[in-house]
Amino acid sequence: MEERGAAAARGGGRRTVTQMLVVGIIASALGIALGIAIDWFPEQGSTQADDIDTLWDVLVIASVPFFVLVSVVVLFAVRDFRVRPGEEHLDGPPIHGSTRLEVIWTTIPAVILVGLCTYAWIVLTDIEEAPAQGPERQVIVTGEQFTWTFEYREGGKTFKTSQLYVPQGESVQFKVRSKDVIHDFWVPDWRMKIDAVPGITTDFRVTPTLMGRHEIVCAELCGIGHAFMRQTATVVTPDDFRAWVAKQTAPKGSGAAAGGDGENQPAEVDGKTLFTEGNTAGATACGACHALSDAGTTATTGPDLDAVLKGKSVEEIKRDIVDPGAEVANGFAPGIMPSNYDELLSEQEVDGLATYLSEVTK
Ligand code: CUA
Repeated sequence: MEERGAAAARGGGRRTVTQMLVVGIIASALGIALGIAIDWFPEQGSTQADDIDTLWDVLVIASVPFFVLVSVVVLFAVRDFRVRPGEEHLDGPPIHGSTRLEVIWTTIPAVILVGLCTYAWIVLTDIEEAPAQGPERQVIVTGEQFTWTFEYREGGKTFKTSQLYVPQGESVQFKVRSKDVIHDFWVPDWRMKIDAVPGITTDFRVTPTLMGRHEIVCAELCGIGHAFMRQTATVVTPDDFRAWVAKQTAPKGSGAAAGGDGENQPAEVDGKTLFTEGNTAGATACGACHALSDAGTTATTGPDLDAVLKGKSVEEIKRDIVDPGAEVANGFAPGIMPSNYDELLSEQEVDGLATYLSEVTK
C-alpha cells in the first residue's frame, strides 16, 4: 500500500516537472522576445551607445530564464504544497537539506554572475579606451545643488559655461566633480553616466555622433531641486565648435559673452518669457521652481514670489537673483537656488527680469 503511494507520487512528481519545464520554456521565450522587442532607450547618440545596448540585451536574455525559473517553482509549489482544509496542524516530514543541491544552486549562479560581470567589464573598458591618436579634449564637469558647470581648456584659454557644447565625432573625456553632495552626470542619448562624488574626480569618455541637443540629467537624488538639475548637451560640427569656443574666449564687452546678443541687437528683454522659459545660455526657467500668478506657474521648490517679492524694489530683486544666499526666505534652506545666475544671465536680462518681477508683485 505504502509503496504504491510512493510510486504514484514519483509519477506525479515527474509529470509536474515536465509541466514546469514546458511552462518555463514558453514563459522564458516570451519574456526574452518581449525584452528584446521593447525599445528601452532613446536614439543612439555616441559611438559607445551600440555596445551598451548590446550589453543590455545580453543581460536581459540571461536574466529572464532565472526570473521565470524562480517564479515557476514558487507558483507550482503554491499549487501542489498549499495547506488544504484539515491540514492546518500538520507538519511536513523532517528534512535535513541536501548538500549536493546547495552546492549546485550556489555554483551555477556564481559562475554565470562572474561571466556576466567579466563581459560587462570588458565592454566598459573597451568603449572607454582613449583614442589611438591625437590629443583628446577634456571637459571638467562640476555638479552642485542644483546645476552643472563645464570648464574647458581650449587653445591655452580656460573658460566656464553652463552650456555643454561638444564637437561631433571627436572623443571627449569628462572629468566629473561635485562641490557638495553626490550627483550623477548622465546623458541618456550617449548611454554614459557617472557619479559626481565630493572629494574625488571620476571620468568617462564619449564620442558623440548624433548632432543636436541632448538632455543632461542628474541621476542621483541630491536634494529638493534634483528633478530640475537638467541641462543640455549640444553636439555641433567641429567648425561650429571652434566658432563657439572663439565666442566664449573673446574678451568681455565685445558682445559675444554668454547670454549676450551681440552689440547690434536691441537690449529689449521680455521678463515674462525669460521667467517661464529661461535662456539659451543655460539659465533654467525661474517658473520651474517658483510660483508666480502673473506667469501662471505654481512650483513650490522655491518661495512663492507673489508673497516674498511683494513691495521689493527692482534693486532688491536683482540682488535676490544674482546672490540668492544673501537673504533666504523663511522655511527654505540656503543653497537651493543656484548661485550662478549672474553668469547665466546678461546684465540686461537681470534688469528685465527684476523689472518684470517688481511690476507683477507690487
Ligand atoms: Cu544633482 Cu540630483
